[in-house]
Amino acid sequence: MNFKHDFVECLYPALNGQLEQKQIVKMIEKPKFEQQGDMAFPCFELAKIYRRSPNDIALAIVEKINSPIFEKVEAVGGYVNVFLNRKDVSSKVVKEVLLQKEQYGKLDLGKNEVITIDFSSPNIAKPFSMGHLRSTVIGHSLALIAEKYGYSPIRINHLGDWGTQFGKLIVAYKMWGDEKKVKEAPIKELLTLYVKFHEEAEKTPELNDEGRAWFKRLENGDEEARHLWKWFREESLKEFSKIYELLGIHFDSYHGEAFYNDKMELVVQMIEDRRLLEESQGAMVVQLSTEELPPCLITKKDGTTLYATRDLAAALYRKENYRFTKSLYVVGHEQSLHFKQLFAVLKKMGFPWYEGMAHVPFGMILKDGKKMSTRKGKVVLLEEVLEEAIQLARKDILKKNPNLVAKEEVAHQVGVGAIIFHDLKNFRLNDIEFSLEDMLRFEGETGPYVQYTHARAASLLRKGNYQEGKERMIEDKEAWPIITALMSFPDVIKRSYEQYDPSQIAKFLLDLSKAFNKYYAAVRILDNSEQKLARLSLVYSVKIVLKEGLRLLGMAAPEEM
Ligand code: ARG
Repeated sequence: MNFKHDFVECLYPALNGQLEQKQIVKMIEKPKFEQQGDMAFPCFELAKIYRRSPNDIALAIVEKINSPIFEKVEAVGGYVNVFLNRKDVSSKVVKEVLLQKEQYGKLDLGKNEVITIDFSSPNIAKPFSMGHLRSTVIGHSLALIAEKYGYSPIRINHLGDWGTQFGKLIVAYKMWGDEKKVKEAPIKELLTLYVKFHEEAEKTPELNDEGRAWFKRLENGDEEARHLWKWFREESLKEFSKIYELLGIHFDSYHGEAFYNDKMELVVQMIEDRRLLEESQGAMVVQLSTEELPPCLITKKDGTTLYATRDLAAALYRKENYRFTKSLYVVGHEQSLHFKQLFAVLKKMGFPWYEGMAHVPFGMILKDGKKMSTRKGKVVLLEEVLEEAIQLARKDILKKNPNLVAKEEVAHQVGVGAIIFHDLKNFRLNDIEFSLEDMLRFEGETGPYVQYTHARAASLLRKGNYQEGKERMIEDKEAWPIITALMSFPDVIKRSYEQYDPSQIAKFLLDLSKAFNKYYAAVRILDNSEQKLARLSLVYSVKIVLKEGLRLLGMAAPEEM
């Protein structure tokens, strides 16, 4: 809902067709101060056309505007300022939300076209890092937003399950590994082996050659190598699944890098057929100087393939199998060059659909201002962080609402919600300093605060015995900030889709929650008054939008907390 359209409908005839409707839409502004109205139309550009002063033009336009939706229309300093009829607008907005319920804000712009979203994509045999958490929650939310926007998302977990590091891991396991230990705590043990390998390789660099040789054996299908690799992969996936389950996230495909092992020969052939493959110091590359990029490495000296080769194969596979119109990669910004090269190679290969592909980068998680590194073994285990958040939520419930029936379920929803929201409220490209304390905060600008506001609305509806029906006009002037927030929800979703940025929704939810809590403090909603039903219907519309907004972030909205 947005009344811009009504304003345009008034302005267009008033301007005698001098401007197109589209141009008018772009010119309408939101005034800085409340006393300047709800929308403003600047007349400065028109001054040249009409050869009159902007304010004279504004005055002439004011004369011609006549719509019940505007309470007041005035010309000030070259602007046409309009004031919405708040009572009218309020009841229209509430009616609209109650009519559409969770469909409110839905836009059918994707027309069911497929959008593949490559996200999470952790590396096996390593702990699930905080950086992968970012990709996971952003990608998951983008899939939900894309769906709301009318697209059919395909969620792809491009597991990092191939590459020289697995050769190294095999060497480490064969030298120092212990089957029982790996079975007990796979990720921990495999990480220990990986770290040990790097320590030892600093003293004995030949170990690196051995690692490469084992990866080559793996690529060639050597039975021992494949057996160990498969085992590492399965154990890792079991651990990752626990995290996805806690977060409530599923994938349509787990085809990781290894899946493309037998599909790369064809890709290399295709590149060669197009005469794009060149030798460079024994390796094969695609020159990208025309794109002002460094060459993209396709195969190494020893014939083994690379991360980029596998991504090329994956892109072709996805195009063929999913027929996407858009293809997103939610991966940290340190891989920007990789994706630029990937898209450039596809372009050179003559695939126009590369234009529908986009890298959706995000900032890093820093520890004391530096990137967290797995190599040195300094990592925070996500599963432990999630468990701790849930435990904290449990304690909170026992303190505040010991009689709550669904304690466990709610503790889970709130603990996990805190972690998800803590991430998504940040502008996607900002780096985040890791702080467990911050992640586990439930007050202030947090997920639990929004969830709590939703539960408060639900409780008001229960206590007020709210029944949907003949709503009355809301007369409380304190309700206006809530109304403007509700009104903006569809635009917020649109922006979050267009900018691939869920933080817009997170910030919106904080604003709506604050507006609602202010209203709650100022107005006695449950008092027996003529306004009770109108107030409760406002509460209900807030509840609907909070719940839907939380859902789009991948969070639950408990009815009681
Ligand atoms: N496994 C990679 C990493 O952890 C991310 C993969 C992203 N997806 C892709 N198609 N390259 O850095």
